[in-house]
Amino acid sequence: MSLALEGIRILDMTHVQAGPTCSQLLAWLGADVIKFEPPQGDATRGQLRDVPGADSLYFTMLNCNKRSITVNMKSAEGKQVFVDLLQVCDIVMENFGPGVLERLGFGWERIHAINPRIIMGSIKGFGSSGPYAEFKAYENVAQAMGGAMSTTGVPEGPPFVTGAQIGDSGTGLHLAIGLLGALQQRHRTGLGQYVEVAMMDAVMNLCRVKFRDHQRLAHGPLEEYSVPTGALRETPRAGNDSGGGQLGNAIQCKPGGPNDYLYVVVQEAVWGALAQRIGPTLGQPQLHTDPRFATIAERRRNQHAMWALITRFAAGHTKREFMVILNELDVPCGPIMSTADLAEDVHVLGRDMILALDHPQRGTWYNVGMPIKLSASPAQVRRSPLLGEHNAEILREVLGYDTARIAALGEAGALGKTAGN
Ligand SMILES: CC(C)(COP(=O)(O)OP(=O)(O)OC[C@H]1O[C@@H](n2cnc3c(N)ncnc32)[C@H](O)[C@@H]1OP(=O)(O)O)[C@@H](O)C(=O)NCCC(=O)NCCS
Repeated sequence: MSLALEGIRILDMTHVQAGPTCSQLLAWLGADVIKFEPPQGDATRGQLRDVPGADSLYFTMLNCNKRSITVNMKSAEGKQVFVDLLQVCDIVMENFGPGVLERLGFGWERIHAINPRIIMGSIKGFGSSGPYAEFKAYENVAQAMGGAMSTTGVPEGPPFVTGAQIGDSGTGLHLAIGLLGALQQRHRTGLGQYVEVAMMDAVMNLCRVKFRDHQRLAHGPLEEYSVPTGALRETPRAGNDSGGGQLGNAIQCKPGGPNDYLYVVVQEAVWGALAQRIGPTLGQPQLHTDPRFATIAERRRNQHAMWALITRFAAGHTKREFMVILNELDVPCGPIMSTADLAEDVHVLGRDMILALDHPQRGTWYNVGMPIKLSASPAQVRRSPLLGEHNAEILREVLGYDTARIAALGEAGALGKTAGN
């Protein structure tokens, strides 16, 4: 079966998470991704190691379906391998710190001159312009500076990061879209271009609705917020508020463990049915006509009382039981799923979102699957490569080097480790 990006070859210099998450998606779409590593490898191979001597899950979970070549870019021979690869690739991508590639002698102008068709994808913490351009960044730095942290948590507590990796993986997604756009444009122009995504910009894009609320504050308080907003000039932290026009909250359920909550959205259309269902149990059979909750405006004003009533009802049910009750009423809701819940969830397993893979160093392990489902080219997920596993294969098949030339490169120290050769 042919895959969507079959025939597209990517020279992937990315490391850690933000870049690799992008190139893994492109590999799952069918691109031939050559992970171009320094001789010691992507630093994440050894970070948070759980199995001695094996590539860490940090690495294996972000580098599936890639081939690995190790090249010392600080040697003249290594630079030549890089130049040769540039000439036969469609995309080169990197997420080094500011100025790293330029120091190695390969800014965009030079890369474009070497291969005018190649597209270059670049992730930086803050982009290549502006006062922050020289700063390095990691996930939580981007969350801090892109608006996510100031709007996550509760007003009386400190700012919080979110568990979803919006700074790293979120940026990788943005880059993937940019690269696919540039590939499409190249069909018309025959030319590559430089695609840059700053982590801070990507987080701001994901916080768009918080800027909606920031501007609304100029015209009065934010009525749907559960916290007071009247005197504010900036979007506040608002706990588990829905963040949209409909009211929402995480409701504690039986037996009261850390994840025994159901997230419930009291959509305007469902209040009547919900009130009729829970009212009698609460000793309030007329709840659906209670004027405190009769309109969405009243429910916004009295939402703490409404949440207290729903919580009282939920105390008699587990999150799954409460979900069944609410689904019957067409109330949008979802149990708070822990990683343990998700790893065994029938729905998740049925959609190939948790996949068992084999690895020569670590045996069976699990990856989160491909979230983008293409009907004509479903992803076939394969394990991540060992360090330098494909050195000889890439030099021979992609670059046409002969055995003597490959041996000479090894002797010159341009390749580092050559596992699997
Ligand atoms: C993530 C980050 C903070 C890590 O910083 P770091 O570990 O100091 O790594 P850098 O990217 O700055 O530098 C990489 C070094 O490896 C070297 N290197 C990379 N590939 C090489 C190769 N194939 N051969 C030889 N050297 C290589 C570079 O030349 C550079 O060395 P230098 O400092 O002497 O110039 C930084 O890369 C960064 O800010 N990236 C952009 C934002 C980003 O993507 N962050 C999210 C990470 S999930």
